[in-house]
Amino acid sequence: MEHKKAKVAVLVSGGGTNLQAMIDAQGSVIKNGEIALVISNKADAYALTRAKNAGIETAVVLKKDYDNQTAFEDAIIELLTAHQIDLIVLAGFMSILSAHFTSRYDKRILNVHPSLIPSFCGKGFYGLRVHEAALSYGVKVTGATVHFVNEIPDGGEIVLQKAVAIRPSDTPETLQKRVMQQAEWKILPRAVEIVSKKIIKES
Ligand code: GAR
Repeated sequence: MEHKKAKVAVLVSGGGTNLQAMIDAQGSVIKNGEIALVISNKADAYALTRAKNAGIETAVVLKKDYDNQTAFEDAIIELLTAHQIDLIVLAGFMSILSAHFTSRYDKRILNVHPSLIPSFCGKGFYGLRVHEAALSYGVKVTGATVHFVNEIPDGGEIVLQKAVAIRPSDTPETLQKRVMQQAEWKILPRAVEIVSKKIIKES
């Protein structure tokens, strides 16, 4: 008999390469969790296609369809509750969630950020901007962080980090790609497994 798995929802906005890394890690690195739902706040996010190709249920929740942030977050909470989600993963989800949302899911939301927190993080630091900032500061080492999400943007407890060396020839684009390949796609599935395992053990 297959053992019980933590039900994971992944929130996305874009290309979904981190989602793909988790899909590919199911059954190998991720043994105690299963991706049950993918929610996008962008209707045309390629991540939705990746989910569909993997047979994972998808939903689109657009901020413009709601009067305010609370109503937008309530729509997401409703979906998560209906699917009995245990763990939420923000994988390139480009919308900051307020305490209304995060306080409901203490130690149950993970986020992947493309720098070594506390460098180059917080409001305004997302996607390519993070790598532009790292290069313009002149740091020689950057990387990625997976952390729990609380009401402070990129402020929750760190679960895993991995460093990536910067090359003199790097552009924001080459650095972004290497940080994804060498760090994000590795530590995100591992972190999902660590937390899923804990959830199953405590259930
Ligand atoms: C990733 O690099 C992720 O770390 C970053 O956006 C990219 C999404 O790519 N997230 C942030 O900057 C959050 N602050 P993906 O859609 O291919 O996974």
